[in-house]
Amino acid sequence: MPSKDKKRLFQRNNRIFDMIISQQLDRAIIDDIQDITNALRHIAKNKSGLSFLQNILSHKRAMLYFCQPSSRTFLSFQNACYILGMKVSEIRDTSVSSEVKGESFDDSLRTFSSYTDLVIMRTKGANKAERAAWLLNTYTNRPIPVINGGSGSDQHPTQGILDIYTLQRSFENFGGLDGKTVLICGDLKRGRTARSLCYLLKNFEGMRVILAAPSEFQMNEDVLQFLDKHNIPYIIETNSLENVLPEADAIYMTRIQDEQDQFSGESKGINTSNFKLTKELMLKVKPYAAILHPFPRRDEIDVAIDSDPRAKYWRQERNGMWTRAALISYIFNIHGKILDY
Ligand code: NCD
Repeated sequence: MPSKDKKRLFQRNNRIFDMIISQQLDRAIIDDIQDITNALRHIAKNKSGLSFLQNILSHKRAMLYFCQPSSRTFLSFQNACYILGMKVSEIRDTSVSSEVKGESFDDSLRTFSSYTDLVIMRTKGANKAERAAWLLNTYTNRPIPVINGGSGSDQHPTQGILDIYTLQRSFENFGGLDGKTVLICGDLKRGRTARSLCYLLKNFEGMRVILAAPSEFQMNEDVLQFLDKHNIPYIIETNSLENVLPEADAIYMTRIQDEQDQFSGESKGINTSNFKLTKELMLKVKPYAAILHPFPRRDEIDVAIDSDPRAKYWRQERNGMWTRAALISYIFNIHGKILDY
């Protein structure tokens, strides 16, 4: 489907209805979500504020349909729903859903939509969230929104939103994210978070991107073409992280996605030792730089770096819950109440 039609499909009354791909988001929405997130955090600081929030969507139910392993995304969505007072049901494994009895994906989705007001889903396939959005907007007389919580190796737009929020906050006293150089390192080929982040950078002025990974894990052509189309200059570094580290304002580390190996174990044969952030390498990192990681981490960031003020990944993780609550309030168009509180 051409991307213009896709964007229309995911909208209702000129507003975002489904959150499926990062390309749906423009700067105005990103800034709105940042404002709503900040307001939510502020309101939730005391009991009366929290009680107010818990009334906001207490008449709505959400379904978490997670067919791939997840801790952070699942828990942060679940708790985002709780913050807004939503009731949550879940399927975390297709082996306990009727799909094992031969039910099609489409029929399962239509079933969920009969019981809930929102579907949040993580799937193995790249186009499953898109398919779900199309299905629930086309074939049911009660259209309900779909949020993509990670679709195969393709996209993870809500991770992108929380990553951008974390970067914007990290550079609050350094002129914001505009004009910064973002270094993205790790498995760029199969890492959906790296891809969604790249798509979101088009919303900022004067960005530069450095893609650091062994050639086997380098970014796919579709994202490179997107960066070209939006005049975002990029450098491809295939030898070592150290070579490019001093240029970066933001450093986004990711793990090797070896569970996606086609013939199990081939990732192990690829030397990634030059693409790890060690304590020694921190000497080369700018003093105000922000280090992010979508997690889970293995050894691509030394734990000794955790206490460095430039390490923002634990904060980033927590930001996930608040930005997701902000997005849900935006989708249900009740964010005005939060901003007016
Ligand atoms: C990521 C994912 O699932 O894509 N984790 C997350 O959602 N925070 C990153 C990963 O698994 O490497």
